[in-house]
Amino acid sequence: MDVATENVDVESGNTSDPEDDNCSDNDFEPSKLGTKEYWEDAYQKELETFTDIGDVGEIWFGEESMSRVLRWMDKANIPENAAILDIGTGNGAFLVELAKHGYRNLTGIDYSSASVELARKILEAEDLTDVTVKEMDFLNCYGELKGFDVCIDKGTFDAISLNPDNSKEGKKLYLQVLKDALKDKGFFAVTSCNWTKEQLLDRFSEGFDFVQELPTPSFQFGGKTGNSVTALIFKRVH
Ligand SMILES: C[S@@+](CC[C@H](N)C(=O)[O-])C[C@H]1O[C@@H](n2cnc3c(N)ncnc32)[C@H](O)[C@@H]1O
Repeated sequence: MDVATENVDVESGNTSDPEDDNCSDNDFEPSKLGTKEYWEDAYQKELETFTDIGDVGEIWFGEESMSRVLRWMDKANIPENAAILDIGTGNGAFLVELAKHGYRNLTGIDYSSASVELARKILEAEDLTDVTVKEMDFLNCYGELKGFDVCIDKGTFDAISLNPDNSKEGKKLYLQVLKDALKDKGFFAVTSCNWTKEQLLDRFSEGFDFVQELPTPSFQFGGKTGNSVTALIFKRVH
């Protein structure tokens, strides 16, 4: 499943209005994937499946989406004691990979209580009991998340952008909380299937320096080359 292909018609989804901010990313139709109910229901089902047969459920954008960020972390010499936040951790699969990679100061947050329960159960089953998982709405916790060296987002900014009620406000709040959560010169690793590199550069231009794009599989169509997933690294600058 994929946030873009399942629900978003990029071609026809122009909903821009005069109150839009100046970013170039105001053109998606709202979707149920932007609602808490959707995720609560999805992770409740995944929780039942995990309890029944031990299947951890959906790995958003596949295993490679975690490996490519981990490879970058190795190259960037992110120390094993770095404080790392996984924003919208879902089933906590990335936390498991980070812990297995040696990282030992890990926090995951998600606003779905079923996701938090699932992530905790999966971590426990892997004997990784030193990882913090909190039920928290990232858009409603300003000042509560601070001092992180690395913030990781895989599909959560996408989901927030699809909120039928307040996606515009959500995107602004997201930026505020993210800036507050990161230390000066801390890194932000975002993986998105809804936004292009240019749109993400635009959205995260203020308060961040662009560091690099991580290579993702590309496809060719009509003589043009594109990527279905974009993975970018930013650095927090004050
Ligand atoms: C596409 S899923 C990605 C899950 C996980 N990052 C992964 O890669 O498997 C989006 C996640 O964002 C969470 N989420 C959406 N809005 C959120 C918010 N405002 N605060 C915290 N979590 C949120 C959802 O509950 C869901 O777990």
